[in-house]
Amino acid sequence: MSVKMQVSFYGHQRQYHNLKADIDKAISDVLESGAYVMGPALERFEVELAEYFGTKYAIGLNSGTDALWLPLLAMGIGAGDEVITVPNTFFATAEAIWIAGAKAVFVDSDPKTNNIDVTKIEAAITPRTKAIFPVHLYGQCAEMDKIRAIADQYNLKVIEDCAQSIDAHGDTFKIGELSDGVGTSFIIQKNLGTFGDGGALVTNDEHIAREVKRLRNHGSLKRSMHSFGFNSRLDDLHAAILSVKLKHITAWSDRRREIAGMYTNALQGTNLKLPYELPGYRHVYHLYVVETRNNNRDAMISFLNAEGVDAKLHYPIAIHQQEGYPWGKEAQIVGSVANSEWNAANCVSLPMFPELTQDEIDYTIEKTLEWCKNNA
Ligand SMILES: Cc1ncc(COP(=O)(O)O)c(C=O)c1O
Repeated sequence: MSVKMQVSFYGHQRQYHNLKADIDKAISDVLESGAYVMGPALERFEVELAEYFGTKYAIGLNSGTDALWLPLLAMGIGAGDEVITVPNTFFATAEAIWIAGAKAVFVDSDPKTNNIDVTKIEAAITPRTKAIFPVHLYGQCAEMDKIRAIADQYNLKVIEDCAQSIDAHGDTFKIGELSDGVGTSFIIQKNLGTFGDGGALVTNDEHIAREVKRLRNHGSLKRSMHSFGFNSRLDDLHAAILSVKLKHITAWSDRRREIAGMYTNALQGTNLKLPYELPGYRHVYHLYVVETRNNNRDAMISFLNAEGVDAKLHYPIAIHQQEGYPWGKEAQIVGSVANSEWNAANCVSLPMFPELTQDEIDYTIEKTLEWCKNNA
């Protein structure tokens, strides 16, 4: 038995210390430049991000949430329209639909991947359906090829919630290739995160790009000329930090996959349900989520936390199970969402960030196995 350790869930300061010289320089370059809002650092990052995704456009915004609802607005989706998504996601996915004024229609997730169950989508389509809104949960892409095929058949838009999955891809597709737009988040805890809040829309659609650009800046594309909009600009300081970090994203994802491999090898054969990788897909393990099978998730979290392993929950309450749902908003559940509810009731996220040390990984495995031996 090893000596007690503290294994934290995030490694933000470690990442900063590893990149300190480059990040400090990027920040000081912006500060010295005098251009802090809609300046050259933002422009540069947008070019780099579009290049990275292989899309025509990238627009920096001040959160991932805005990167999800502004494109809905740009597509003219709002009151009276329905958007199909899942209830097992971070709250902002559904919030984005409601901010746009549309109705959230929830279908179940696939029990293997926890992403939208593509076989459930068609039953939820009505004449009011305007878009499918898949979430690439935990770091693995939803089955975009199948989603695009359904969308084409029913003439629907597709928006990808990529807040957790930058650098992931499918077996035959890249993120952004099969949708009308991709919203991603740069809040610090994301795989590509700034020291604060941020987000971006990437798209190949000129109209959506132009509209979101206009909407993020008080409805203005030309100085002093406005139509109705908002303030949702990504600051140049954050853009400069993100330019530094973007260069490392592939290596960070590779390391996340390596850590996930160690967890999976060690935990195979226990009674925990482990993450499932679709063949040919690149899962980037924003989160490494296991599921308990005996309704004893809370006991597992308490044990790990008491042993110094900062395990967390993503997400313990499905959206339709939140208190007061749906808060006077339009919402509907189509069919059973039992898999999503199961996921919410049993999920446990183990520490996962690229800077985890081998000792921390080994200790996390040791304590998880100890819990399984005594409880699972
Ligand atoms: C799946 C998902 N969608 C949307 C968001 C919202 O992003 P933000 O916090 O940057 O608004 C997040 C993360 O916070 C998320 O995990």
